[in-house]
Amino acid sequence: MAFPLFTSSRKPLLRRCAEDQVTRMRLKYSPYYHTMQSQKGTTVTLDGRELIMLASNDYLGLSYHPKVIEAAQAALARWGSSPTGARISNGSRAYHTELERRLAAFLGREACHVHSAGYLSCLTSVAAFAQKGDLVLADKNLHSCMWDGIRLSLATAERFSHNNPADLRDILANSSSDQAKLIAVEGVYSMEGHICRLPEIAQLAEEHRALLVLDDAHGLGVLGRQGRGTADHFGLNDKVDVICGSLSKSLASTGGFVAASSEVIEYMRTHSKQTVFSAALAPAQAAAAMAALELLQTEPEHNERLWANTRRYKAMLRGLGLDIWESETPAVPIVLGSRERAYFFWKTLMEQGVFTVLSTVPAVPPGKDLIRTAISAMHTEEQLERIALAMAEAKKQL
Ligand SMILES: Cc1ncc(COP(=O)(O)O)c(C=O)c1O
Repeated sequence: MAFPLFTSSRKPLLRRCAEDQVTRMRLKYSPYYHTMQSQKGTTVTLDGRELIMLASNDYLGLSYHPKVIEAAQAALARWGSSPTGARISNGSRAYHTELERRLAAFLGREACHVHSAGYLSCLTSVAAFAQKGDLVLADKNLHSCMWDGIRLSLATAERFSHNNPADLRDILANSSSDQAKLIAVEGVYSMEGHICRLPEIAQLAEEHRALLVLDDAHGLGVLGRQGRGTADHFGLNDKVDVICGSLSKSLASTGGFVAASSEVIEYMRTHSKQTVFSAALAPAQAAAAMAALELLQTEPEHNERLWANTRRYKAMLRGLGLDIWESETPAVPIVLGSRERAYFFWKTLMEQGVFTVLSTVPAVPPGKDLIRTAISAMHTEEQLERIALAMAEAKKQL
């Protein structure tokens, strides 16, 4: 059945959808929203072809770990498929509070709250605490969930240049000392793979009495002792006020968390609309995250293999002369510099059997159009060799 185009509709909002260039292009062809017919670890089947998945954030490769699958299945059998409501109305379940207790202990915090998406957790980590009249200082390259949190908070926002404490210092020096402040950063910047310059930023937060909120979606499981994340990596656990993140990356599940002091978490539970009015995390998702969290602490080999794969992968990319934007982590961009170059690089990789994600302006700064890739502990030697051949071919075709 053909989709109707509403260009002639009398409803302006339907016309806006129909006339939008990106939407019109997507209806014809799009490098996004592919439907895989099957998946086994880092191999996916798309339109009958097997591809190596190089775009997931399953850093530790735990989404196929037998203990994770077993825990999720047992939770499903015991608790059913969904809590079917918000915790404030129909109650928390033991699996919520147990996961929160374990995450809080792992991150060295008094308390934790889990949401059904990392996006909700990170958004609310700003929106719940900053208010109109406050000042939020945000890294320019922050994930959109934090930007949405800033907008919802109605606080004044100032962006500082990416991972640049000197710029942050200048902005703070010109701000009013009476204004309550919040600094929002990512532990590992998801697109660039940069590690936050936390020591200098935490120092500034202290000097200016600013609440420091760290989105560690890509640091958890990757950095720090047993994967405790970016604050732990720098030994700065006590300098970060709020750690938020996602369960959908190293913890091989879906959902998100906010970890902080007991007062902060209780304040959030009563003041954050995203927490009060949204259905709770599902049992299988909580159980999968809990099992993965246990594996972080009992099976260090996943983290070790992740870093071994990352080193090998980056050496190969550098050897080909590709620009990886000084990524310091397993999140590795390949900067191509223009939409056309990025598109053709991405397309050649697809033809060569490697699935990556194309990221162009406005998702990245002008001139930084890129392919975003992420390495997993699950990538095999043979897959890394096939990836190397595909990259060499894509580079040659450029
Ligand atoms: C830095 C960062 N924060 C938060 C999120 C949101 O997490 P989730 O996908 O679990 O909603 C993401 C996901 O892409 C992310 O990269």
